[in-house]
Amino acid sequence: MSTYGSFPAGRPRRLRTTPAMRRMVAEHRLHPAELILPAFVREGIAEPVPVSSMPGVVQHTRDTLRKAAVEAVEAGVGGIMLFGVPEHKDALGSAGTDPDGILQVAIRDVKAEVGDELIVMSDLCLDEFTDHGHCGVLDAAGRVDNDATLERYAEMARVQADAGVHVVGPSGMMDGQVGVVRAALDAAGHQDVSILAYTAKYSSAFYGPFREAVASSLQGDRKTYQQDPANARESLRELALDLAEGADMVMVKPALPYLDVLHRVAESVDVPVAAYQISGEYAMVEAAAANGWIDRDAAILETLTSIKRAGANMILTYWATEVAQRLR
Ligand code: PBG
Repeated sequence: MSTYGSFPAGRPRRLRTTPAMRRMVAEHRLHPAELILPAFVREGIAEPVPVSSMPGVVQHTRDTLRKAAVEAVEAGVGGIMLFGVPEHKDALGSAGTDPDGILQVAIRDVKAEVGDELIVMSDLCLDEFTDHGHCGVLDAAGRVDNDATLERYAEMARVQADAGVHVVGPSGMMDGQVGVVRAALDAAGHQDVSILAYTAKYSSAFYGPFREAVASSLQGDRKTYQQDPANARESLRELALDLAEGADMVMVKPALPYLDVLHRVAESVDVPVAAYQISGEYAMVEAAAANGWIDRDAAILETLTSIKRAGANMILTYWATEVAQRLR
């Protein structure tokens, strides 16, 4: 009985009264199969090397990568996204197109270990392999040469597919990359290899820890090829181009600072949409939790649920295996 006015006609709190009620009315829930684990494998190391800016993440040896893949399968994780860290880097990123380069070796290793139980994906980009750290090859003036880079991507697609990858992820933001990769795959008889296009990929400060993870000393920045954080509409243009060029799935990256972009993309397509919770997003939560400033486990689930709510079907996250285990 209220002394001050009428009783509320609607009481949303009724549906929040117990865990069982909240669980039943939840609009979104996470599932292990939609999680994808990004993993780094480094050539020529005997023991895994911790990535200091990403506590809990390592550069794997070939051996520990296989173990991580098995663990992911056992937890019900949907896929693994592989990144190779070669012993030798050069201006062309030669290791990226070497059939025996570390990434191709890792694809074969993981396929041999888990077969088709886990979707095996590979980053299709040159920055892990170039000594200047850019995602493409440079012209005489030191700019990233779009079309010369496309030639390299076509070759990368071929060697990754020959190694047995299920899905390639062109992530360099070169114009025309999806079309060139599709044509290269088809010409080599790899019609069934899918393309997860990094469609809306922003030039972000949150990639910082990734540079350590792939031992990259980037000269300059990526602002002439990755998108300006100020732009959202532009993502729809990138999206239209990627779909026209044959993208099977599209991705928005980073995730949390770009939920509006993710939402717009998800609303306007009929293909699966992925979001990449990147290294800096991971590092922020781990660092705050290590200081006792936030509840780590709750924060992880909250960020992933928010990414799902914004429209992602799949989420790349360094916490994939751990979260999948918790969800079981
Ligand atoms: C490009 C690539 C990057 C990431 C994934 N693929 C780095 C970049 O574009 O600068 C970043 C992932 C992360 O930060 O977790 N090869």
